[in-house]
Amino acid sequence: MKRLGVNIDHVATVRNARGEFHPDPLQAALFAKKKGANSITIHLREDRRHINDLDAKKICSIKNLFVNLEISTNNGIVKNALKIKPKFVCIVPENRNEITTEGGLDLKRNKKKIKKIISLFKNKNIRTSLFINPSIKDIKLSKEINADCIEIHTGNFSNLVKSKKKFTKEFLKIKNCSTLANKMGIEVHAGHGLDYKSTKILLKIQEIKEFNIGHFIIGESILYGLGNVIKRFKKIIRG
Ligand code: PXP
Repeated sequence: MKRLGVNIDHVATVRNARGEFHPDPLQAALFAKKKGANSITIHLREDRRHINDLDAKKICSIKNLFVNLEISTNNGIVKNALKIKPKFVCIVPENRNEITTEGGLDLKRNKKKIKKIISLFKNKNIRTSLFINPSIKDIKLSKEINADCIEIHTGNFSNLVKSKKKFTKEFLKIKNCSTLANKMGIEVHAGHGLDYKSTKILLKIQEIKEFNIGHFIIGESILYGLGNVIKRFKKIIRG
C-alpha cells in the first residue's frame, strides 16, 4: 500500500506570521494522524522559518507517530536531529535565498559528508532518505552511501502538469529512477509540488511507496475549512 506523508511546515508559517501560538503544528500533526496520514513531515530549516526546535522536539516525542524530519547537512542541524530522535530523516539541500527546496542534493560533491551523516542516523535505527533529482547517477550514488530510501524531487514534473505542458519525458525519468532504485533495494518516495492531478499520474509508478505532500494540502485545507469556521463565527455572533 502506498503511504501519505503530510508536511505540516506551513501550519507553522501561518502561526509565525503572528509570532504567537495559533495554529499549533503539534495539533496539526495529531489531527493529520487521526485523519489517516501515515507519517508527518517537518523541515527544521537553518533559518527556522517555519518549524522551530521546540515544535520538532514536541512532535517527535508523540508516541506512535512516524515523524520524518527533513534536515540539511549543516553540522548544528544534524546534531539537533540526533538529539530529537525522529523515526525518519530526509536529508535535503538548503539554500538561504530559496523560497522552497529547489532541487535535489548534489551527491557527487557531498558524498563523503552525506555518507557519514547517514551512518550516524542508521546507528540510532533512524530510517534515512535522500532528496534527489530523478537522475540515474544519483540513484547509484545513493546506494553507494547506504541510504535506506530516496525521495525523488517531483517539482519539475508537477510544474509541467500544472501548466498543462508535456510531462512524459519527466515522468519517464521518475519511472526509470524508481525502477532502478527498487531493484537496488532502496525504497522510493516522491515529493514536491504535488497536487491531486500529479499524484494520480505518479500512482502509475508502482515502485513509489510514499508521497510527501505539504503546500497543496495546507492550501486546500484553508479553502475547504474556511466554510466551517465562518459558519461557527456566524453562530457565535448571532448570540
Ligand atoms: N519533500 C521534501 C523533501 C521537501 O523538501 C518538501 C518541501 O519542503 C516536500 C516534500 C513537500 O513539498 P510541497 O510543500 O511542495 O508539497
